[in-house]
Amino acid sequence: MTEAVETRPLPGATFGGLIEVADGRAFVEAAEARPRALPEALNGRGGLLLVKGLAAVSDDPGLLVRLSRPFGAEVEDYARTTNRLNLLHPDDSRIVRISNLPPVNFAPPEPPDPPTRPDGGPPIRFPHRRGWHTDQSFRRPPPDISLFYAHRPAPRGQGQTLYADGAGAYDALPPDLKAVADDLHGLHVAPFTGHGEDDVVQGRPRKPLNEKDGPVAQPVVRLHPETGRKALYLCEREQMDWVRGPFVGMEPGPGGEGARLLYRLMEHFTRDRFTYAHEWDRGDLIVYDNRCLIHSATWFDAQAVSRDMWRTTVWGNPGPSYRGEARSWETA
Ligand SMILES: [Fe+2]
Repeated sequence: MTEAVETRPLPGATFGGLIEVADGRAFVEAAEARPRALPEALNGRGGLLLVKGLAAVSDDPGLLVRLSRPFGAEVEDYARTTNRLNLLHPDDSRIVRISNLPPVNFAPPEPPDPPTRPDGGPPIRFPHRRGWHTDQSFRRPPPDISLFYAHRPAPRGQGQTLYADGAGAYDALPPDLKAVADDLHGLHVAPFTGHGEDDVVQGRPRKPLNEKDGPVAQPVVRLHPETGRKALYLCEREQMDWVRGPFVGMEPGPGGEGARLLYRLMEHFTRDRFTYAHEWDRGDLIVYDNRCLIHSATWFDAQAVSRDMWRTTVWGNPGPSYRGEARSWETA
């Protein structure tokens, strides 16, 4: 049974664990037989597990839901939480598809400018790389864990996913920034509602927000309920409210005092030593802890490439800042 949770350090990163699986179905059964094993491995590896060799999920998407359950009380049923029903996996509404294929039709992010680093690799550090976020930070309480599976990844060199370690970044903050961050709250909002940085800079019209979209205030520093570690919890660009924020109690808007602080914090958060760039193979799964990591997607050639990634989201243990708090946004 122990082989189900035998992890190695993730190559190319200062955080994260790697698990290589020979039989995907047997791995899921072992995880169910010892339901604390994978969550403990995740906590022990800084909130990221790469599981390689799970292509069985492509034939049986229910395996992804079964593998999600040990990570928390509730695997989100997106049929109840989103109006965008075209995103749901046809076999199971607890799986959302991130894909450029119909009927999902997600466009990849624009490439950064310039599109590569001098060494040819993908730009990672903010603000050269944009789009850093943690999933659904515009809801209180926010979700704990996401599981992201490569059913049909982009070829290597495209469509990578980048991760940054909020606990390592917090520990390494200069004392003056740490003192500021400890007491700060960010204002998070759903993306593509006209409240993002570029929208405000360009004066685009704002869509009316409902309770599912925020804005909500979230602590900039979260205490992880299982590891006891503090971690930075921040987004940028589209997922902070640049009308009223990005921070509570600071001068709002692009170019304001709050914006300058966000840029400083994000530049630090996304330094090389806190980040990992994942090149996907079919059958890869990354389990990531939204309470202590942020991530970002990279461009792929959507005209030439079909990409189809599947995600579940697990809720239930957001930590002491949210204790006893009812969800303000659940409608069903
Ligand atoms: Fe995401």
